[in-house]
Amino acid sequence: MNLNILLDRLQIPRTFLATIASLSALWWLIVSSFSRRNNNTGVFAGIAIGLFVVGSMLTEIIFRFSHLNRKNISNHRQLQALLGLYAELDPEHSLPLLGEMALLPFTALNYVKVIRQTKPEIVVELGSGVSTLLSSLQLKQNGSGKVIAIDHEQKWVQRTINDLRQHGMEDWSEIRHAQLTPVEHNGRTVRWYDPAMLQDIEKIDVLLVDGPPDYVDSGQRQPGLSLLSDKFHDNTVILVDDTSRSNWNQWVHQWADNNDFIAEELYHDVEGGILLYKQQSNFFVLREGA
Ligand SMILES: C[S@@+](CC[C@H](N)C(=O)[O-])C[C@H]1O[C@@H](n2cnc3c(N)ncnc32)[C@H](O)[C@@H]1O
Repeated sequence: MNLNILLDRLQIPRTFLATIASLSALWWLIVSSFSRRNNNTGVFAGIAIGLFVVGSMLTEIIFRFSHLNRKNISNHRQLQALLGLYAELDPEHSLPLLGEMALLPFTALNYVKVIRQTKPEIVVELGSGVSTLLSSLQLKQNGSGKVIAIDHEQKWVQRTINDLRQHGMEDWSEIRHAQLTPVEHNGRTVRWYDPAMLQDIEKIDVLLVDGPPDYVDSGQRQPGLSLLSDKFHDNTVILVDDTSRSNWNQWVHQWADNNDFIAEELYHDVEGGILLYKQQSNFFVLREGA
């Protein structure tokens, strides 16, 4: 078995092992230095290693403390947002779990608010899931509109359809299974949804870009903005998720600059999401109170 896998299974932190190894080396150096008369090299080396170990441990403690602090702030924010979602949507049943693959509660709350404020006729989601249930619930509250969600995995299409049925939301949504296919984009080939599955959509009022998967940040989601741009209009609002991935973040900002969209980051720390809208849009007026 690979050592890394073994350490993970036993849940032994690597820093703990490194500390034990360093302390053993320190002990060995001190003992061997005392056993050799008139030679202080071992003592100095032992002291140096001791200082190094203490310094490393202090750095690790400070690092972990600040990480916990950030996580704590984030958890507060996500909890408040989850309460906000229940207040906004008042679902008959509990919502499926948010986070992990689904939108984080704070992003989801922003998404739902955009749908409440802009009253879209057509919402398109690239990547279906809990987000499709949320948008359907909000469209029902609005009294009009439809969400068309595209997904490449039949299993998750079915899972989302089941969630929608459980909440009685089938009439507000349509889930389309689209295979990932090679698509030419900016002089290279990426694997994206079969464009034929989106051809009949004439305009998009709200777009959620949350698929296809691109864990290595290699630009697989770019066609979601560039290939669909002929369906956008002055009042289109776009929510782009996973913009904590640095290449994706940069590309989205660049696309917004080139296409006259304002790019508003939802967060300024670990989690990511960007809202895109035009300065001449009704949404801008709502947002800025202009
Ligand atoms: C980033 S997720 C999209 C999630 C969706 N927009 C949402 O907020 O629920 C990307 C893909 O993961 C799959 N997926 C959806 N919900 C999932 C879940 N709860 N757990 C694991 N995979 C999921 C789907 O194939 C989806 O296209």
